[in-house]
Amino acid sequence: MKTLVVYSSRTGNTRAIAEAVAEVLPDCALHPVESAPSPEGYDLVAVGYWVDKGKPDARATAYLEGVRGATVALFGTLGAWPDSDHAKECMACGESLVSAPERGNTVLGTYLCQGKVDPKVVAMMQRMASDVHPMTPERKARLEEAAKHPDEEDRRKARETFRAFVERLG
Ligand SMILES: Cc1cc2nc3c(=O)[nH]c(=O)nc-3n(C[C@H](O)[C@H](O)[C@H](O)COP(=O)(O)O)c2cc1C
Repeated sequence: MKTLVVYSSRTGNTRAIAEAVAEVLPDCALHPVESAPSPEGYDLVAVGYWVDKGKPDARATAYLEGVRGATVALFGTLGAWPDSDHAKECMACGESLVSAPERGNTVLGTYLCQGKVDPKVVAMMQRMASDVHPMTPERKARLEEAAKHPDEEDRRKARETFRAFVERLG
């Protein structure tokens, strides 16, 4: 079995998960999306994104839009709680980029975890849209928790999830 991990990462969170995923995939090639090979010829293609305004980021999206006839599994990082409706919507959005029947892909699933939000971006959002993103106690707690991720437990869960995906392929 030949496998490929492609990730898009601005500040390193998604790269950390990509490295954990690559540890458990057989005969694995690991590439940032900027220099990733085309997905043809791999038995499993794992693509990682960071969430940008409720969706997989633009670079990961462009890569996913070109995947055809492949077995695909996704992973990603985001500032929100991984069990929130927001995270579920991001996950569904990512899978919808590869799951249209005419594309001929098999989608195994998505692993999402929190990732620290660039403090410069938090500060900028506060300045530009404090009415849209007011710093409520809930939001402060969420950002403080996100700042600790991805951690060793997130990497362990990523390895476990992708080990199970490989077992499903037999
Ligand atoms: C411009 C921008 C937009 C973001 N939008 C969201 C969002 O809509 N929802 C969310 O949960 N996190 C959002 N985040 C947080 C990132 O998804 C999170 O910090 C992620 O772990 C960054 O991954 P990276 O280190 O691989 O770049 C945003 C971050 C940035 C910089």
